[in-house]
Amino acid sequence: MRTSSTFSAVRTTCCGRRSNALRQPGCLPSTCRPSLGRFLHVLALACSARSILEIGTLGGYSTIWLARALPVDGRLLSLEVEPRHAAVARENLAHAGLGDRVEVRVGAALGVLKDLRDNGADPYDMVFIDADKPAYTEHLDAALQLSRPGTLIVADNVVRGGKVTLGAADDEAVVGIQRFNAALAADPRVTAAVIQQVGVKGHDGMAIAVVRATGPRKRGQDEALRR
Ligand SMILES: C[S@@+](CC[C@H](N)C(=O)[O-])C[C@H]1O[C@@H](n2cnc3c(N)ncnc32)[C@H](O)[C@@H]1O
Repeated sequence: MRTSSTFSAVRTTCCGRRSNALRQPGCLPSTCRPSLGRFLHVLALACSARSILEIGTLGGYSTIWLARALPVDGRLLSLEVEPRHAAVARENLAHAGLGDRVEVRVGAALGVLKDLRDNGADPYDMVFIDADKPAYTEHLDAALQLSRPGTLIVADNVVRGGKVTLGAADDEAVVGIQRFNAALAADPRVTAAVIQQVGVKGHDGMAIAVVRATGPRKRGQDEALRR
């Protein structure tokens, strides 16, 4: 019997290749979304990403789709707070032949992102936000500080069955995403859109934002960027 603590072997198709050993900790096969993976892959190709930052690894499913869009000398850094998830993801990435270009770093994302910034990390070409929903706004802000004009920032699960449109909510994930969507819409440093998707996990969606300016918001910047 499978339990949430069981590493479940799942079968999935990744970029047309059959991967029989992709394992997701506590994630049954039906919770994984090949259509989402392929969409991320296309987005990474569309922006010619050579460097990708992912926030929230789980078993490395999206990581594999993203990494397969990189050139051989590309790099992907994925952040994961749960060491058990990171271990499974590393195994999956090695099995997919991507261990050389992907690093899974264990730690709470906000702390790792601050370290990256403090250590002068180069800006990323693409950022994928997919960790704890209450912290999405802070992850966006940190991602912007590791971006350049043209960086693509993608955030998953921003529709939540339409609950984000229903006003005051009890669910902390919905509240977190409402806050994130409002912050994204109001931030002059990005131009963003939300795309809705219906799939095996139901109705949800992704925010896709192109960075136009980085750094703290400055007076007069809002108007200048709207032109
Ligand atoms: C939705 S899953 C990621 C799924 C993965 N991106 C995919 O599509 O295959 C979210 C992951 O983020 C991790 N996580 C949650 N909060 C985090 C944080 N503050 N910092 C880093 N990772 C976090 C969780 O442990 C979980 O593995």
